[in-house]
Amino acid sequence: MAQVVLENIYKSFPLRQGEPEKATNSEAESVSPEAPSSTSNTVLRRINLTVEDGEFMVLVGPSGCGKSTLLRSIAGLEVLTAGNIWVGDRLVNDLPPKDRDIAMVFQNYALYPHLTVYDNLAFGLRRSEREKKEEGRRKREEGRGKREEGRGKKVEARRKKVEAINDNRQGEERKFEKPEEIKNKVEEVLNYLASHTLNKERIYPLFEDFLVGITRNFPPGLRYFSEREKAVGKRVLKVAQLLQIEPLLNRLPKQLSGGQKQRVALGRAMARNPEVFLMDEPLSNLDAKLRAETRSQIVQLQRQLGTTTIYVTHDQTEAMTMGDRIAIMNAGQLQQVAQPLELYNKPANLFVAEFIGSPPMNFLPVQFTAPLLISHPQFRFTLPDIWAKNLQQYDGRGLILGIRPEHLSIHPPATKNLSVQVEIVEALGHETYLRVCLTDAPAVRMQVRVPPERSIRVGEELWLAIAHDKIHLFDPDTELAIFPR
Ligand SMILES: Nc1ncnc2c1ncn2[C@@H]1O[C@H](COP(=O)(O)OP(=O)(O)OP(=O)(O)O)[C@@H](O)[C@H]1O
Ligand SMILES: [Mg+2]
Repeated sequence: MAQVVLENIYKSFPLRQGEPEKATNSEAESVSPEAPSSTSNTVLRRINLTVEDGEFMVLVGPSGCGKSTLLRSIAGLEVLTAGNIWVGDRLVNDLPPKDRDIAMVFQNYALYPHLTVYDNLAFGLRRSEREKKEEGRRKREEGRGKREEGRGKKVEARRKKVEAINDNRQGEERKFEKPEEIKNKVEEVLNYLASHTLNKERIYPLFEDFLVGITRNFPPGLRYFSEREKAVGKRVLKVAQLLQIEPLLNRLPKQLSGGQKQRVALGRAMARNPEVFLMDEPLSNLDAKLRAETRSQIVQLQRQLGTTTIYVTHDQTEAMTMGDRIAIMNAGQLQQVAQPLELYNKPANLFVAEFIGSPPMNFLPVQFTAPLLISHPQFRFTLPDIWAKNLQQYDGRGLILGIRPEHLSIHPPATKNLSVQVEIVEALGHETYLRVCLTDAPAVRMQVRVPPERSIRVGEELWLAIAHDKIHLFDPDTELAIFPR
């Protein structure tokens, strides 16, 4: 498991096809990645993000804001224009995808069409085992290379000994006088062979792989399961049970529905137990019920495995319920990274305020008069004292007032309340959403969430009270939030 650190990430795509991408940091540094360019389109800008070890980070943002590009860059499928990506203490910028120990579930998932669901799930596991073995072998060989020098003399001595044996054989017509002598010679040759070719550690697994491979399509009783394959099977079964795809294990991908395929793709990544999971909208093909179920299964599995996860979604409910933290992106830039409720309670700017919350926050331009008066042609009210200090500099200036639909309620007429006319009523059963316009300014529209008991007709005139302790204020020039105290 590992922390993922993104440091000053930039990514540009060439505007014209066939134009080469900037490939290295040094190249990128010579021209500032901030500089506007007529030949490339910068889709990621100055991304700095630390995903803690074992954290579930959700990445949300509108279509085209760069979420998939960022995920693909972390996985090693895109070359960065500038910046660094760390996985644990490894700088992975120049590592190929397979060496990053990252599993990614793509927006357009792909399963191996000729393998059953079981083998699709097991594929990554077997591969990662093989890769670990390869790695181990490479390291052993490197070590061997270093030892080789020291062993050079021994090898030379052994070679001379074997030559001497051969010379003796020729001279003595290959006859040995004493059984003792024969035994010694045989032992000598066996030792020589054992130290050079009969390496059990390498031959046994190859033989086992061969047996597992040729008996794979045999009936279960005749299949050969190596110890390793048994461990793979156990893990496949656990993931399959969690994602409810156990009954599908013997099917081929073409025999699955879109949603089932998506869960198999998800399971394949999870079964591998990598250091980092990257998931790009893995639930988009599921129906609402399955989506909710799979959502909690993923969270449960992630908590059990403790694998650092970056999860991309459009879905607010998914973001709010799954993430330890949420990173909100717009136009290639991070807007705010925080825990779900902090984003809802303290959005850092207008974009986040509108993006988080459903239906979205309402915005009205208002005038501010120190110390605490907010006024609009249709209403005026006094803010709680906690605002006085941070609003001093805005005396006599305009502000943007933000009010969530759930912080408006139906009340009797008053100067601090808004007079509105109902345009649309959306009764959902457990609550009702109203779309209203200001009675004296019909072009200004707002959304209101009201309890379902109150029956409301289209065209009805209402007075709405604002929960003054729940309002949000934004600087109209910078669009940044102003916080009380
Ligand atoms: N290979 C490419 N060449 C040129 N432009 C690209 C390439 N891939 C992506 N883009 C552009 O980069 C921007 C970000 O794309 P990306 O796929 O990362 O968005 P996204 O946030 O994942 O959107 P969605 O939510 O629709 O999947 C888009 O404007 C897209 O057109
Ligand atoms: Mg995408």
